[in-house]
Amino acid sequence: MKIKKVTKAVFPVAGMGTRFLPATKSIPKEIMTLVDRPLIQYAIDEARAAGIKDFIFVTSRGKSALEDYFDYSPELETALKRAGKTDLLEILKSTNMDSGAIAYVRQNRAMGLGHAVWCARKLVGDEPFAVLLADDVIAAEKPCLQQMVEAYAETGGNMVAAMEVSPQRISSYGVLDVDQDNGNVVRAKGMVEKPKSEDAPSNLAVIGRYILSPKIMTNLNKMKQGAGGEIQLTDAIAEEAASGQVFGFRFRGQRYDCGSKAGFLQATVAFGLSRPDLAEEFGAYLHDMMALQKAAQ
Ligand code: UTP
Repeated sequence: MKIKKVTKAVFPVAGMGTRFLPATKSIPKEIMTLVDRPLIQYAIDEARAAGIKDFIFVTSRGKSALEDYFDYSPELETALKRAGKTDLLEILKSTNMDSGAIAYVRQNRAMGLGHAVWCARKLVGDEPFAVLLADDVIAAEKPCLQQMVEAYAETGGNMVAAMEVSPQRISSYGVLDVDQDNGNVVRAKGMVEKPKSEDAPSNLAVIGRYILSPKIMTNLNKMKQGAGGEIQLTDAIAEEAASGQVFGFRFRGQRYDCGSKAGFLQATVAFGLSRPDLAEEFGAYLHDMMALQKAAQ
């Protein structure tokens, strides 16, 4: 069987981001900055590295800052050129997207991740597609989606990024019911969204990177509301597990949940320390802070 290349990616960015209120009252969560780049830029760069050519954003009211972010900014470019700030000009250019490379569709009501993905069905068509959740930021030597695309070239079907999670935290995730564990790749016989810790079928949690077959759109078409009154992507993927077409992929890298305050702060520290231009000053500051805290105890 010939496995089609993945060239389209869906970025669901229509959520309300309530955990970051009041900031998200006027700023889309995906525009919030990790060091100096918005979360969405990390996801776009990861998708590009994996060979994605078509970028489909599922947006909602109040997200126009996202559309502007990927547009050209002629005034800024001219000003930087005039000032001879070529390094900043290069940084700015790296955010530009070719005309027509990004398409936007609206999700009129936040009815869940599954519903958001379904909104992109006409643009996805009859092809496999990736889904990236920008609030999951993954630091990795080889970008996570690229790792997945390589593994998917062997398996086809549907592939979800998975990581081991403690029993205390498992009920916040979609969880794989593992059929065969082949190391990096596991075949799943089911998938459950946010199970109670005692009902979790494994400790392998699904995080925000997916490669999906167009069949998932068909499944979403007939979806009823799942856990939490939302249309769950997990349920649509789980339908494919019975035929052995769902794979979990243990990616190599560190995932940060930037949809939560604690996760965002952790990512800020990790990414700040990994930046050569900041590591020394920022590291020294953290060191002093720790010493102060210890002294106060
Ligand atoms: P979250 O579960 O993090 O929801 O969605 P949220 O609304 O963004 O944030 P909180 O929980 O209220 O703080 C995961 C991803 O799915 C998208 C979000 O934009 C985010 O990228 N999503 C969620 C949609 O696009 N539409 C929805 O109806 C729900």
